[in-house]
Amino acid sequence: MCGIVGINGTTEVCFDILGALKRLEYRGYDSAGMATLSKGAFFRKRVPGKLIQLEEKIRACPLPGTVGIGHTRWATHGAPTEKNAHPLEGKHVVLAHNGIIENHEALRAQFSMDPFDSETDSEGIVHLLDAYRERGMPLSEAMSQLFQVLQGSYALAILFRDEPDTLIGARSGSPLVVGYGREGRLFLASDVVAFSDFCDEVTYLEEGDWVELKGAQATIHPDGGSGVVVRPRVPIGETMKVLTKEPYRHFMRKEIQEQPAVLRHLLTTLSDPLKKNTVAWASLSNLCIVACGTSFYAGCVAKYWFEKVARLSVRVEIASEFRYNHPALPLGTGALFVSQSGETADTLAALRFAKQQGIFCIGIVNVPESSLAREADVLWQTHSGVEVGVASTKAFTAQLAVLWHLVEEAAEQRKALSSEEKKTLDRAFQTLPEQVEEALLLDASLQKLAARFGHTTSALYLGRGALHPIAMEGALKLKEISYIHAEGYAAGELKHGPIALVEDALPIVVLSPYDALFPKTLSNIQEVLARRGQVILFTDPEGAEAVHSLSHRLHLYTLPQVSPIFAPIVYTIPMQLFAYHVAASRGTDVDQPRNLAKSVTVE
Ligand code: AGP
Repeated sequence: MCGIVGINGTTEVCFDILGALKRLEYRGYDSAGMATLSKGAFFRKRVPGKLIQLEEKIRACPLPGTVGIGHTRWATHGAPTEKNAHPLEGKHVVLAHNGIIENHEALRAQFSMDPFDSETDSEGIVHLLDAYRERGMPLSEAMSQLFQVLQGSYALAILFRDEPDTLIGARSGSPLVVGYGREGRLFLASDVVAFSDFCDEVTYLEEGDWVELKGAQATIHPDGGSGVVVRPRVPIGETMKVLTKEPYRHFMRKEIQEQPAVLRHLLTTLSDPLKKNTVAWASLSNLCIVACGTSFYAGCVAKYWFEKVARLSVRVEIASEFRYNHPALPLGTGALFVSQSGETADTLAALRFAKQQGIFCIGIVNVPESSLAREADVLWQTHSGVEVGVASTKAFTAQLAVLWHLVEEAAEQRKALSSEEKKTLDRAFQTLPEQVEEALLLDASLQKLAARFGHTTSALYLGRGALHPIAMEGALKLKEISYIHAEGYAAGELKHGPIALVEDALPIVVLSPYDALFPKTLSNIQEVLARRGQVILFTDPEGAEAVHSLSHRLHLYTLPQVSPIFAPIVYTIPMQLFAYHVAASRGTDVDQPRNLAKSVTVE
């Protein structure tokens, strides 16, 4: 989603701002801009579309100044046009905003005599600050006033025309980080990744903080006030620095390939939660898992595991619905929030809602410095490293591995698992990296399959039990990056409606290892073949044997024999590879698909 960058130094900043913005591209955006302050004047360039267009403008005419801000905008209020792109400029200020100002209409009404240049919710902030400065308010008072008036969520980077060599940041509801660069340069960004090449240490601003970056000094003011607070400087993790897709064409492809290594590393860290609290699983009567998108599907797999293995009743809720659905949360309810970014606005709001109800909140995140990581009562990290591709891959399989670890912990505490069963499952769990490696060997044949089905306009994905969420995840992957309509169904649902879609051109992806339910899925396959549909079946050697003579309309892909419990992890791999190759063959923007953002920080 939107990205903010600010740099205050002693040398020209415009090309470094551009570099930092490029590192935020992966978050998703549809317009971009930059502004600098030099000798009491603002210089500004904005473009609709991609950073390459901004770069062309900047190279043709670089912006002067040793202090500046940049922005990549993901449109919410107002189309992705030049006039709606940030930074937004007023008489006294120029600023970039992430988040949503909920009282923007009231602000427009308040300044109805002033012309507004954009359709954004953010422009009211410019008018407010201009008005404060017109009244001669000092910087600190203007910022305090701003915090009192603004409603909604915001991270801001601001330059004041009459505050030379000063960069201001403020946060409430959207993340903002200060970076300490070499040669006394100071940085501001919504994501550490933006400046991890320039800085070794950072400070994560807290809710309600605003910061003055002046000279080589960062002064942090807490609670939207004028007091001063010292917040810790922490080193930037190594994983934040590795941001190259080499030797692959896309980050997504690289991230798919990284999964065995991520799982291997994760297996060594799982017994060590990031926050040392423990979960008293035996005291819970039920668990509510809350998440969005791919993380939601991880939660759906975990529901199946928790209920089967730990005998714990689980419901899975879509985060954007949860707090508006008046959920009944009886005594003994625990809540588990799953998020790659830890900044998804819907998931964070759901966590805050649950905390208000006095519910114990467990978090699973990939970004340890995220808001969700800070606010959960107990936390596990998925240790996948930075995931750049908007389509989540390695973070998803890592979420599943962490969720499995929690299921086992719950099963042990609830005495739902014998030591023999636990040993067998542990052994199978340890072999996952090798099995994922084996699944990755399907790459070349899936590339061929993608070439064959790359022109389809629609696809169905079917799975049963814990593979039903993987069918939905496979469909989501295809939709996200190839823009082909796809739906995931429980295989048994086929005959209740979707079968009407079956025709020669429709590929139906079926996930079915040779387990107790295989014969039932086989019947569904027969139903499709009888109607001249095309089946793409992912199964194991025994399943392959059972169908080998069925029909030339059945495209068979054999995965390794895997413990039924861990099939969701292994069967995810061909879903990712197939979607990737279809998208790559169609020439879409795989890592930054249209309209999508890596982390959705607005409701
Ligand atoms: C995954 O491919 C998607 N880009 C999206 O559904 C994502 O999983 C969702 O927005 C949740 O994000 P989070 O895990 O960072 O909370």
